[in-house]
Amino acid sequence: MHNPQLTKEGKLKHLLSIEGLPKSILNQILDTAESFVGVAEREVKKVPLMRGKTVCNIFFENSTRTRTTFEIAAKRLSADVINLNVNTSSQSKGETILDTINNLTAMHADMFVIRHAQSGAAHLIAKHVAPHVHVVNAGDGRHSHPTQGLLDVFTIRHYKPDMHNLRVAIVGDVLHSRVARSEIHALTTLGVPEVRVIAPKTLLPEHVEKLGVHVYHDMCEGLRDVDVVMMLRLQSERMTGAMLPSSQEFFKTYGLTQEKLDLAKPDAIVMHPGPMNRGVEIDSAVADGNQSVILPQVTYGIAVRMAVMSILAGNSE
Ligand code: CP
Repeated sequence: MHNPQLTKEGKLKHLLSIEGLPKSILNQILDTAESFVGVAEREVKKVPLMRGKTVCNIFFENSTRTRTTFEIAAKRLSADVINLNVNTSSQSKGETILDTINNLTAMHADMFVIRHAQSGAAHLIAKHVAPHVHVVNAGDGRHSHPTQGLLDVFTIRHYKPDMHNLRVAIVGDVLHSRVARSEIHALTTLGVPEVRVIAPKTLLPEHVEKLGVHVYHDMCEGLRDVDVVMMLRLQSERMTGAMLPSSQEFFKTYGLTQEKLDLAKPDAIVMHPGPMNRGVEIDSAVADGNQSVILPQVTYGIAVRMAVMSILAGNSE
């Protein structure tokens, strides 16, 4: 079946999800991002690759990191950037999302970066946009957050370049996490041999092992000898019913403390996509400790988003 993110020639047209993307495209994005890391060191932090193009950020859900780094990335590529304020837009008067997109396309927007609480929102928009317009999914419901998955594997590759010899543990609320899904697809596609998920049964999707991961319910067992510990936020806003006893109880069993981290390899890195709940999924001492690469993840997000947008713009019809 044809992947709607790809052109007939197999080039990236939209970035909607990591699932189904070939390893060659993931490596193209990561290698292109590598070439953009140095742009931040220049006096003029700009390259002209998207001069004359207009990128429209539309975030129907709150964001600090993703929205800001997409804006910085587009500006570093010399694009014009519009941040639509959804709260003051005509969405509040009943305009449909597709009418909003059509109106912005009439203003010659070339690329839409979309965050939405509904899974599939970016796919829907990609199905309806004009052929020259590109769509990037900046997080849809619990489904997918492809640029976060890519920046996470970029960070892992930076600190642990031998991806074919790694153990990665993803810990916490996998059930509600679009980031976990994107990371699992990226890591398995890139050939990481052992991806573990560590969580209580109530916070794991049914049949999660079909994604190619090893399942652990005991954190101490799951962390043993891993190279990367990826903590996830407890997504209380997406929980229904009593999925957990309490956040204090969760921290006791699944929160990352230095004592638990010491079960991983001595040079293991600690990651978190943010926003973090200190004292719920991660202890402050670990979040700010010398094994933490949580802030470098954010910095690398700019280069990765520059890579995605410049590749899409280069594949325009
Ligand atoms: N990681 C992430 O998506 O963070 P924001 O919600 O702040 O964009």
